[in-house]
Amino acid sequence: MEKTLVLIKPDAVEQNIIGNIISLYEEANLKVIALKMEKVSRETAETHYKEHKGKVFYQELIDFITRSPICALILEGENCIAKVREINGATKPEEQKPGTIRKKYAKGITENCVHASDSLESSKREIKIWFPNFKGE
Ligand code: CMP
Repeated sequence: MEKTLVLIKPDAVEQNIIGNIISLYEEANLKVIALKMEKVSRETAETHYKEHKGKVFYQELIDFITRSPICALILEGENCIAKVREINGATKPEEQKPGTIRKKYAKGITENCVHASDSLESSKREIKIWFPNFKGE
């Protein structure tokens, strides 16, 4: 079964909406199969966001994701990579549809509440970063 990695980011944890966000995934028939909270180290943040290194927003992104605890989860379900990205909403604020998590709760392009893997390849890479002991491809 397809899996994806989700991060509920510091701004969402600070807003007390972890439960609201997870409910939206569960209502879409996706199953939480792993979950943890942690304050992210710069090393883990840099590994996770390595494809963005050198971009103008990189430093702001690393500072933000490391500022206070996040909640990391693995979700499982049919077509879950695409489903979760639909539920989360677009990265660009002007493209976010009503009802998506980002449209409802995000403060901007950096403080955007959630991250989710964008492909099968990135879900495998990201699950290894956040849940190195997770077994079950
Ligand atoms: P996320 O889904 O976690 O993946 C990469 C993050 O980079 C993205 O959410 C945004 O928070 C951030 N990001 C992407 N594009 C921009 C941009 N143009 N300006 C600032 N931040 C960006």
